[in-house]
Amino acid sequence: MHNGRTTLNKFIIEEQRRAEGATGEFSALLNDLVTACKSIALSVAKGGLAGVLGDAGARNIQGEEQKKLDVISNEILLEANEWGGNLAALASEEMDLPHPIPTQYPRGEYLLLFDPLDGSSNIDVNISVGPIFSVLRCPPGASGSDERAFLQPGTAQVAAGFAVYGPTTVLVLTVGDGVHAFTLDRETYTFVRTHADIRIPEDTQEFAINVSNMRRWEPPVKRYIDECLAGKEGPRGKDFNMRWVASMVADVYRILSRGGIFMYPRDAKNKDGRLRLMYEANPMSFIVEQAGGAATDGKTRILELQPHKLHQRVAVILGSKNEVERVTSYHAA
Ligand code: F6P
Repeated sequence: MHNGRTTLNKFIIEEQRRAEGATGEFSALLNDLVTACKSIALSVAKGGLAGVLGDAGARNIQGEEQKKLDVISNEILLEANEWGGNLAALASEEMDLPHPIPTQYPRGEYLLLFDPLDGSSNIDVNISVGPIFSVLRCPPGASGSDERAFLQPGTAQVAAGFAVYGPTTVLVLTVGDGVHAFTLDRETYTFVRTHADIRIPEDTQEFAINVSNMRRWEPPVKRYIDECLAGKEGPRGKDFNMRWVASMVADVYRILSRGGIFMYPRDAKNKDGRLRLMYEANPMSFIVEQAGGAATDGKTRILELQPHKLHQRVAVILGSKNEVERVTSYHAA
């Protein structure tokens, strides 16, 4: 049916068989997440036909205008994941506080964090968007409704993934053993592995950054981009290309596919950076490192940062290892 390829369901079962003492709880959790990603894909694809485009008329905790599809995707993720008995609590970029498991359902041992639909500015204009998720273990004895349970460094993640709703729907997943991408077969509505053991090339000639913020950047970032822009005639001795989709899911997927460096640095306006540590930076850094790339805030490896609040922002520089190391060395200079 799928030319001998591995479906995501089979991949999850095979990973479970390899993990000593696995109970199936983690597999069930991943399957619920996959169901949610498929369901959101359907809502996104209906677009203007279903009246799901436009603003929801509310703001999230970050003060950002919520889109109708942000709210719909958030609801889908909650509904798909709260009943299975695998989670102790959920946290979302779109909700102020952690969402405890409703009392009628059993509690499990994992915590789920998500950005229900990344790339907000692209939702209404038919450019790729998608959810990002991160899975942690709930510390023993911790209450799921207490945000402190979630404040674990990215190194503690047991799984991370994201979907890109583009010309094809692709789901990228790591369970800490490499990175795999699965394409949604629209006839069987099954995710099928199309990219196994993804590796990010260590070198690149492509960068992604919102250049409209240039006047506010710190000197190390300005230096790096100036040198890229100087091309063959500059200190790098080669020309660079630029891409900026403004959907992190699409920009990171491109980097997984052909290399590159993605930067949302701190600047004079976004003093702590712009992206969220728990919902965006940590899961993407886990994926990028698992694919042989690197991720830093300029000074510290992102996965080693100790979070101090759920909705914390952070500077993000990730992608091809040698370029990320170069930017890090400019911060140390
Ligand atoms: O909120 C996250 C996000 O939409 C990312 O997906 C993306 O990388 C970034 O914000 C885009 O930011 P800007 O609007 O500054 O280009």
